[in-house]
Amino acid sequence: MKIAFFDVKSYDREVFEPKLKAAKIRAKFYDTRLDEEDAVLAKGCDAVCVFVNDVVNKAVIDQLNEYGIKIIALRCAGFNNVDFKYAAAKGIKVVRVPAYSPYAVAEHAMALLLTSTRKIHKSYIRTRDFNFSLQGLTGFDLYGKTVGVIGTGKIGRVFIDISKGFGMNVIAYDKFPSDIPGVEYKALDDIYKEADIISFHCPLTDDTRHMFNLGTLGKIKPGVVIINTSRGALIDAEALLEGIKTKKIGAACLDVYEEESGYFYEDLSGSIIDDDTLSRLISMPNVIVTSHQAFLTKEALENIATTTIENIRQIDSGEECKNIVS
Ligand code: NAI
Repeated sequence: MKIAFFDVKSYDREVFEPKLKAAKIRAKFYDTRLDEEDAVLAKGCDAVCVFVNDVVNKAVIDQLNEYGIKIIALRCAGFNNVDFKYAAAKGIKVVRVPAYSPYAVAEHAMALLLTSTRKIHKSYIRTRDFNFSLQGLTGFDLYGKTVGVIGTGKIGRVFIDISKGFGMNVIAYDKFPSDIPGVEYKALDDIYKEADIISFHCPLTDDTRHMFNLGTLGKIKPGVVIINTSRGALIDAEALLEGIKTKKIGAACLDVYEEESGYFYEDLSGSIIDDDTLSRLISMPNVIVTSHQAFLTKEALENIATTTIENIRQIDSGEECKNIVS
């Protein structure tokens, strides 16, 4: 078994290399993303291992098929970047890591919210410059506020528990509601209408793409804080910017962005950013952007590597694998 890893960072290699060695699996590590141009790098391998911004569309799958790739292993939970139906039609198995640390993502969502509401990002920079003024740093209590959680799966539930710990009222929307004590499910429009804080935790699908759009701006409570640690395209970025500019939205905490591919995970500090919407959002005093880092904890990386290798081993040995995307 030989695997071509794409979009690899040093922290990926550190955690994968010893585990691959122990499993006697050979690997090629590429920092380039998988796409039509670079799919050729998978030649001579049996599997590819990809991340959130690799492009695994029909054209790429055709190339992988030609090179004899049998497994596309996502080292993440979301799989919106893979045409998994087309891969299945070509006899290529797509596997993912459905859960590695819902705590990592939910805790990051709360970290962003607290940073935003208590303006920690501003005070950190001020005090480093020995500016101890409190001017403009007034925040608000989370206690007693209503948080609307959209998507109450693994991450959404942890975020709900954390929110309850802060004494917030939790309302939720999910296409497939379940029974969570102390949580009232509501229609999506009612979440938009009633919530002081809205946190997105549902997957990106045809149903959910731009579920927050220009029309949503007419429904939300003025001053609402929007948190997105799920997938960028759940939110129409132009509509979000419009909401910030018109002051309908009080603050936005974004770990993901609709057009993040090509920007996120790269050091572009010396470059001109072409994406005006991203630049404008980042320039706003009430928008906090992190670079799709919510998953990035030691525990999550360990679990991602262990599960990815086990997924590949199970498929290679013909065992049942519960993490196949179908
Ligand atoms: P999950 O599968 O446990 O939960 C997703 C929930 O969304 C389920 O309750 C499901 O019923 C609900 N849902 C499905 N379709 C929906 C719709 N149309 N409208 C409303 N709700 C819907 O997934 P999990 O582990 O909680 O992850 C959620 C998302 O978080 C992932 O899809 C992924 O995109 C994102 N994620 C982001 C990370 C980051 O580093 N920023 C890391 C890991 C996941």
